[in-house]
Amino acid sequence: MPDMLVKLYDLPPLGPAMDRQREQGINIRRGLAPEKALALSWVRERFSEYWVSEADVAFSRHPPTIMLAQRGEQLLGFACYDTTHKNFFGPTGVDEAERGLGIGTALLLAALHDMRSAGYMYGIIGWAGPTAYYEKVVGAAIITDSEPPGSYRGMLGTQAIFHEGAPGDSFLDH
Ligand SMILES: CC(C)(COP(=O)(O)OP(=O)(O)OC[C@H]1O[C@@H](n2cnc3c(N)ncnc32)[C@H](O)[C@@H]1OP(=O)(O)O)[C@@H](O)C(=O)NCCC(=O)NCCS
Repeated sequence: MPDMLVKLYDLPPLGPAMDRQREQGINIRRGLAPEKALALSWVRERFSEYWVSEADVAFSRHPPTIMLAQRGEQLLGFACYDTTHKNFFGPTGVDEAERGLGIGTALLLAALHDMRSAGYMYGIIGWAGPTAYYEKVVGAAIITDSEPPGSYRGMLGTQAIFHEGAPGDSFLDH
């Protein structure tokens, strides 16, 4: 699981991805501070404590750097940036039952276009799990020798990964 680089000046347009979600009755929007606790519970139930912590940072920024996907009152997915490090995209996740509907792509593009508007020219996808997905959707390229990524070295719970050669995705178990 390496870091990846994305050209923010050459992103696919956001419109078609948003239209597709609208047609499915799904709204993609920026998170709002009052819903932080509800959204973090949702992330905790489906993903990891690491991602709860990062989403908390994203919700605490002005404006929040977290995008949400919602159908009615149901949260379906989220995507953050500028959490662990400036200029880093992630974490992101879609409810397992809702994958394959383009929700992850719409959230990713909404966040990356927001990063471009904030002044970044390149974005880094931190500790990217599904590298084929990022390559396919936004032409991301793996950063050489970034596996496991030094950008997370020394973090609690990752000693086995950085010093004992455990698989990089084992941190998702926390
Ligand atoms: C990765 C994730 C966010 C993608 O969300 P999604 O809503 O299912 O993605 P989309 O429907 O937008 O998929 C877009 C395309 O990428 C492909 N794709 C999705 N996940 C993929 C994966 N893990 N590997 C390769 N391709 C993938 C889809 O098949 C789809 O292709 P298509 O356009 O030909 O149909 C979702 O699978 C997820 O939450 N995974 C677990 C958490 C995770 O790994 N997050 C990333 C951490 S860096």
